[in-house]
Amino acid sequence: MRKKIVAGNWKMNLNAEEASNLVNGVCTALENIKLDESIHIVFGPPAPYLPLVKSMIPSILTETALVAAQNCHSEPKGAYTGEVAASMLSDIACDYVILGHSERRKYFKEDNELLNKKVQQALANDLEVIFCCGESLEQRNAGVLFDVVKDQLTAIFDLSEEDFKKVVIAYEPVWAIGTGVTASPEQAQEMHAYIRKLIAEQYSEAIAENTTILYGGSVKPANAVELFANADVDGGLVGGASLKDADFVDIIKAIV
Ligand code: PGA
Repeated sequence: MRKKIVAGNWKMNLNAEEASNLVNGVCTALENIKLDESIHIVFGPPAPYLPLVKSMIPSILTETALVAAQNCHSEPKGAYTGEVAASMLSDIACDYVILGHSERRKYFKEDNELLNKKVQQALANDLEVIFCCGESLEQRNAGVLFDVVKDQLTAIFDLSEEDFKKVVIAYEPVWAIGTGVTASPEQAQEMHAYIRKLIAEQYSEAIAENTTILYGGSVKPANAVELFANADVDGGLVGGASLKDADFVDIIKAIV
């Protein structure tokens, strides 16, 4: 059975005190929610707070509540001032790394070739990858949304089966990120089913069935239930609403 995941992408937000309060609030609530082993709750703080967040997760939740970095470098080490290597994330017990987010593609010009290297680094260092893809509004309106996503997925489609099993895909239509506009459940399901079909063609039906595909883009307590109810939507990658413990907890409840 594939994993269900609710992951928070904090982006460049919160300070140490706010991070502590948020993680405390969520973990306290999680102790009272019955989560089975197939569910992962992921906190994605800015890199400096990863050790803090990891250390705050109570031992009873260590199998369930995990942490994600928002980026890693494409090379193992070296003269790359300001960068963080995948091995360093692994060294501080980070579990996941988010790669291919549309903000990184846009502001840092990350393309398929670079992302492929980053994914390889992450997997070589025992990190699981949350790989983001998604079309812009222009691309959707031009009817090329499926081609765009297919092309973005080529960055991970040369992985071995063993490596691919450690990848979670997040479909995040760019027009829905931080805009308050969410894809309709039908739009999300349509793309998720398409992505699963591509995986089946590239790998196998069994691997496709076991791949977790998250939806991201203005997920909120008010729309999480109907989004997560879709057969191919296995949870969410949540930005804004992951910064408030009550909202994040309500979204988690929608996956249980
Ligand atoms: P949002 O961000 O929930 O604020 O739209 C999602 C994301 O960027 O992962």
